Amino acid sequence: MTSKAIRVFATCHIGEPAENLLREKGYDLEIYPGPEAPQKSLVIEKVRSGVDGLIVTLRDPIDAEVFEAGKGTLKVVSQIAVGFDNINRADANRYKVPITNTPEVLNDATAEFAFFMMGAVARRLWDSEQMVREGKWGAWHPYLPFVGDEISGKTIAVIGTGRIGLAMIKKCLGFDMNVLCYDPVYQNHQFAADVQQVMDLRHKLGMVKEANWIKYVSLDEALAEADYVSLHVPLVREGKMPTYHLMNERTLKLMRKDAYLINAARGPVIDEAALAKALKERWIAGAALDVYAVEPLPADSPLRDPAIEDRCRLYPHFASAGRITRLSPDPQKGMAGRCIQGLMDVLENNYGGDRTKMPFVVNKEAWIGSGADGEGI
Ligand code: GLV
Repeated sequence: MTSKAIRVFATCHIGEPAENLLREKGYDLEIYPGPEAPQKSLVIEKVRSGVDGLIVTLRDPIDAEVFEAGKGTLKVVSQIAVGFDNINRADANRYKVPITNTPEVLNDATAEFAFFMMGAVARRLWDSEQMVREGKWGAWHPYLPFVGDEISGKTIAVIGTGRIGLAMIKKCLGFDMNVLCYDPVYQNHQFAADVQQVMDLRHKLGMVKEANWIKYVSLDEALAEADYVSLHVPLVREGKMPTYHLMNERTLKLMRKDAYLINAARGPVIDEAALAKALKERWIAGAALDVYAVEPLPADSPLRDPAIEDRCRLYPHFASAGRITRLSPDPQKGMAGRCIQGLMDVLENNYGGDRTKMPFVVNKEAWIGSGADGEGI
């Protein structure tokens, strides 16, 4: 460390272990107490005051205004999240400011939560518990007051086979599911072949009665065939392969009437008005959502309509919120650890100061000149 402390402003707490680690290393760390996001004007003021690094998260809009305020002083923006659609990548590139994120450490936590949401909506965990709590549990009956849909042995469409999509497929493997994969950009045929081998072995060993299968198909085919559709794509608003409103009236209508839609990716991947209509008019059986176009979910969102509450599960952008996943200061385990490691790599000139070699810098194209449309999550 130099004698003058490196200054970092964080728009939120990232947990004491990681914060202490930075301070023990001599960083001058200022943290917005939150929990709500600071005004953008405050972030700009801090950046203009000459901070070297900025720790931000998905509710903080970071664009040219922020980079302009930090011209000559701001050296890194470290996002504590894997998705970084709140940061204008093109602006970061123009100002040559590295963005870092926290991939991989949240794959399993996010995938398992998506899986649990799928179970919650299909097996009706919410309304069945509500029935007990409200004293409305009558006698045991084969099918009254309702039944749910099984997951075991069913077919899931995993839309987006980046890191989290692949983690989801691994969870589904244990539930004897068949897997339809769709991804226009990040196809991993080797992974699919490996999963097929495990499926075949499980069948050969007599662990499953029917052999399972996995295959890449088109989006329309995946939507039309699946019992469950789980979204794992990054939000890409423009470019060759946008994912904005990937699920809209047309694509929701392709889904089966008895199918469920799961979203632990980003809210704007779904046209929420179309989804509310699809649920109300029963084009599909249900949905479980962790992310929304506007967060927190507005009071007047059509997704809150009591008419669909039995088939629409709503969670508070919570999928990666496992204790270790969120808070471990170990960069191999926690988002907090990976966030500060990305920050320190840049500020301490690790990897010989070569941003293209730093594992958590996402906008490497700013230094090697190649464009990128989006990142697998
Ligand atoms: C959470 O949504 C993340 O992108 O890490």
